[in-house]
Amino acid sequence: MSLLQWKDHYSVGIDAVDHEHRELIDLINRLYDELTAGGSKVSVEGFFGDLFKGISAHFALEERFMREHGYDQFTQHKSDHERLLDEIRDIMDDFENDKEIGSSELGERLDAWFSRHFENHDARLHKALGTHPT
Ligand SMILES: [Fe+2]
Ligand SMILES: [Fe+2]
Repeated sequence: MSLLQWKDHYSVGIDAVDHEHRELIDLINRLYDELTAGGSKVSVEGFFGDLFKGISAHFALEERFMREHGYDQFTQHKSDHERLLDEIRDIMDDFENDKEIGSSELGERLDAWFSRHFENHDARLHKALGTHPT
């Protein structure tokens, strides 16, 4: 079972952006599958690396787009991105310290972030500026 499920209210109304967001959710799910399958520490750390890279790249693209257009809520939007990256770093630290990672708490935390971020920040951004160039 996947940790996160795509929900209709995640949609920002632009297919290309929704597609990228689905890919982020897939990355989280793949990491979670690897974690729960009891993969080796090295392979799980590899998944964490991929996840971090994928999410950072998406955020960097959005942030560049906002900067280029002088978007009025750039600071708030960027700090919400940073909050998710911090959250992932915390999960990674827990894993490295062999702490148990509770799946329901993890799912809720990430789901809450994605719901709020896509529905508020990203929907507002893309309504104002359209699709960012990929
Ligand atoms: Fe986004
Ligand atoms: Fe965003």
